[in-house]
Amino acid sequence: MVSIIKFCSLLVVFVNYVTASGFVTTSGTQFVLDGCPFAFVGGNTYYTIMEDLFQDSKQATDNIIALYRAKGLKVLRLNTMYDASTKTSSNPWFQNLTDGTAAVYNDGPTGLGLLDYVVYAAGQNNIKVVISLVNNWQAGGGMNLYVATQNGVYHDEFYTSTVLQGLYKSWVNHLLTRVNTYNNVAYNADPTIMLWELANEPRCLGNTLPASPTCGVQTIITWATTMSAYVKSIAPNQLVSLGDEGFYHNNSAVSTSYPFTANEGIDFDATLAIPTIDAGSIHTYPEGWRVPTPYDAWGNLWYNAHQASCVAANKPCYVGEYGITLASGLRDEVYTSWDATWEVNKMANLVWMINGNVSWGPFPDSDGFELYVTDSDWNTEIGNVASNMNGIINQCLGTSSGATSTTTTTTKQASTATS
Ligand SMILES: *[C@@H]1O[C@H](CO)[C@@H](O)[C@H](O)[C@H]1NC(C)=O
Ligand SMILES: *[C@@H]1O[C@H](CO)[C@@H](O)[C@H](O)[C@H]1NC(C)=O
Ligand SMILES: *[C@@H]1O[C@H](CO)[C@@H](O)[C@H](O)[C@H]1NC(C)=O
Repeated sequence: MVSIIKFCSLLVVFVNYVTASGFVTTSGTQFVLDGCPFAFVGGNTYYTIMEDLFQDSKQATDNIIALYRAKGLKVLRLNTMYDASTKTSSNPWFQNLTDGTAAVYNDGPTGLGLLDYVVYAAGQNNIKVVISLVNNWQAGGGMNLYVATQNGVYHDEFYTSTVLQGLYKSWVNHLLTRVNTYNNVAYNADPTIMLWELANEPRCLGNTLPASPTCGVQTIITWATTMSAYVKSIAPNQLVSLGDEGFYHNNSAVSTSYPFTANEGIDFDATLAIPTIDAGSIHTYPEGWRVPTPYDAWGNLWYNAHQASCVAANKPCYVGEYGITLASGLRDEVYTSWDATWEVNKMANLVWMINGNVSWGPFPDSDGFELYVTDSDWNTEIGNVASNMNGIINQCLGTSSGATSTTTTTTKQASTATS
């Protein structure tokens, strides 16, 4: 009986893939959509959207999604970091970890119903979403809150505690099998959701809790191996990444700067080697990371090193976040230089972060990185990046050469689904 059920579900997965269009897949170092390289440009926008939704307004979601669509931005990255527990009365919340034995989920219109709307509205506008499943950082609860429910003392107990692994898996299962209240499509069957990130910027340490003396690359690799396989088992048609910053553990032959030699529990090459990790995630914050100037040159070194890793692993890389502060006065120059490297590598990228209007006006820039369509430098900073990268996609869509990658992808995906 068990094996018959298992066989049927695999069959459904396979048929679903063959007949359903619109899922983003991978082929070699590229994301692929509708038979063409999906060299997307997009952004992060979630505080604005979620804060506005929590005020019972859909205006920010509608404004921002219309802006993405009008400007050719194809992917929106979101976070689900609204965790509560007995230790915090945080409101709004998506899940309540209570005392850490079992969680309660806020499935109604003021909880996950709000996320439903964002996913639905993005889908209506042909925009794909990337969703991060837990925050390394304290904002919205995150890993430290999980650890606090066990009265833990080290941040990395999040990765190693059996109880916390169970709580995280329950959350993943709950979210991925949720049926969207706006269109009745289960999250794991919705081609709008292109990729799940296991976490936002996972590291051994958090904001307030330190790393244990034993935490290292193997700690997070072990966790990511288990959890990526778990996500794939529930959502075989969607992609998975770790959602990390792309640190190397010791790539000092390329650069001795911190992100290449960091000891944060992340090793980009080791992450890419996990079979159930589909793509490599990269963030770029030269100012906060105190890398050597000029930032344009350092960033190009950073991207080219990751491209080499992704070519070696035969998986795509994408820049999940990048940011230079407005105050630095360097944004135009640096983003323009990085764009040239992304174009050569067809490296997808999401700016941190695109902001816009809520019901009462423009949502404020709280971290110095925000980009508004009304900024005089919008075009140099994001408009040109999007139109150049969209040129790569359009060139393919306009010719028949895209068919080659469809075949490769179908074969690869089918074997993944049935293996
Ligand atoms: C979460 O659950 C705990 C335990 O039942 C409760 O004390 C707390 O108020 C809840 N938090 C929220 C935001 O509902
Ligand atoms: C880093 O790598 C370099 C050369 O590959 C090696 O000489 C050095 O010992 C390594 N450092 C650590 C901390 O592993
Ligand atoms: C905010 O809305 C106003 C009025 O519709 C519009 O002129 C302006 O461009 C919007 N600002 C942003 C940042 O979207």
